[in-house]
Amino acid sequence: MTAPKKLFVKTYGCQMNVYDSERMAEALGGQGYEQIDTAEGADMILLNTCHIREKAAEKVYSELGRLKTLKIDNPDLKIGVAGCVAQAEGEEIMRRQPAVDLVVGPQSYHRLPQMEAKVRQGEKALDTDFPEEDKFALLKTRPKARRAPSAFLTVQEGCDKFCAFCVVPYTRGAESSRPVARVLDEARNLVERGVREVTLLGQNVNAYHGAGPDGADTSLAQLIWALNDIDGLERIRFTTSHPNDMTDDLIEAHGTCDKLMPYLHLPVQSGSDAILKRMNRSHTAESYLRVIDRIRAARPDIVMSGDFIVGFPEETEADFQATLDLVEEVKYGYAYSFKYSTRPGTPAAERPQVDPDVADERLQRLQALITRQQQEIQAGMVGRVTRVLVEKEGREPGQMVGKSDYLHAVHIENSDAAIGDVVPVRITQAKRNSLAAVRHEQS
Ligand code: 5AD
Ligand code: SF4
Repeated sequence: MTAPKKLFVKTYGCQMNVYDSERMAEALGGQGYEQIDTAEGADMILLNTCHIREKAAEKVYSELGRLKTLKIDNPDLKIGVAGCVAQAEGEEIMRRQPAVDLVVGPQSYHRLPQMEAKVRQGEKALDTDFPEEDKFALLKTRPKARRAPSAFLTVQEGCDKFCAFCVVPYTRGAESSRPVARVLDEARNLVERGVREVTLLGQNVNAYHGAGPDGADTSLAQLIWALNDIDGLERIRFTTSHPNDMTDDLIEAHGTCDKLMPYLHLPVQSGSDAILKRMNRSHTAESYLRVIDRIRAARPDIVMSGDFIVGFPEETEADFQATLDLVEEVKYGYAYSFKYSTRPGTPAAERPQVDPDVADERLQRLQALITRQQQEIQAGMVGRVTRVLVEKEGREPGQMVGKSDYLHAVHIENSDAAIGDVVPVRITQAKRNSLAAVRHEQS
């Protein structure tokens, strides 16, 4: 028997890349690769990259510069670049860093085994097509290995919205949804392997419209209801959503579907209508707020999360103030804010840019407000009873760590709960980035 070859995958960017990295590792598992968690000692290194902001893309090149030196000790080492930088830059990556052997775009992962064979022959391999075939159907490996209690499951990919700042429609391509039966199949397989919570992923997940058993379009809410029937699956989440695709049935599901968790990531990007228009967001601040009103009417305790871009081209102080006002009104449990980053090829790249120092200063103000809101919401949890999905052991003896229904990280003290259990707890303390809790005995 030959010793397994070693694979190291490094993931940048979003949760979909985390999912894709798992699937790529599974695909290469079929080629005799075993995953390790250091670049040293690997026979194949794959960087699964992100192109959303300039910094993310540049990180890849500095990492490649470091990794190429490993080829001195191991001439058989192969280096591959996957993900959105691979899609956006293709061959250019090999020109800029000749140590790269393989470049594979996000729609071509199912061809990795053939590409691997090619690079083992000493050739270079490049594939950034948007093929007709369904990569998920072709990525067939179904290992029986145990999984952690919480898993990602991609149900939708790509985007047709073309926000003026965003590379996603170019790197991930047109919007497409996986058929319902395939998603249910994968979810059942995950549950058999120990998964208790799935987070349905898509760049525009609430635009999901996969084919149902009769071939008809199925909404995300209908898919969630079908997943709700799977025994052993305890929790369902989904991300990322667009405000315009928050359909009535999805809003209603937040009030009526047991397994759907009270947390919603709903990016708005800006609170200024003038900026939203220039961003091509096709919603206003007001229409976003009214969607949230309806979600809160269905599920009053829902924790809201969002994304913001500050310093978008031509953003004035008044525009930025409108963003702060919107944040004040929503009260976010979580929010991610970014300084606008110019992406070549997107419409906003052509517009007059905001002074970087001004953008920095606005980012700090927004982040200070968001942190304050987060802490207020965390503090408001103290004394409340919630449930935690136990994910791992904590650092202290007897301590178990997991996530609340609201996605807060929770440390349960002196607990006999096992990994994978969903247990009721009472929150005793809000710490900086987590909550402390004790088991709550139900009467
Ligand atoms: N600059 C800064 N942030 C961006 N995002 C997307 N494109 C850009 C960009 N060019 C942010 C948006 C999106 C999140 C995933 O990344 O807020 O929701
Ligand atoms: Fe990018 Fe999201 Fe806009 Fe699509 S909806 S273009 S993924 S920001």
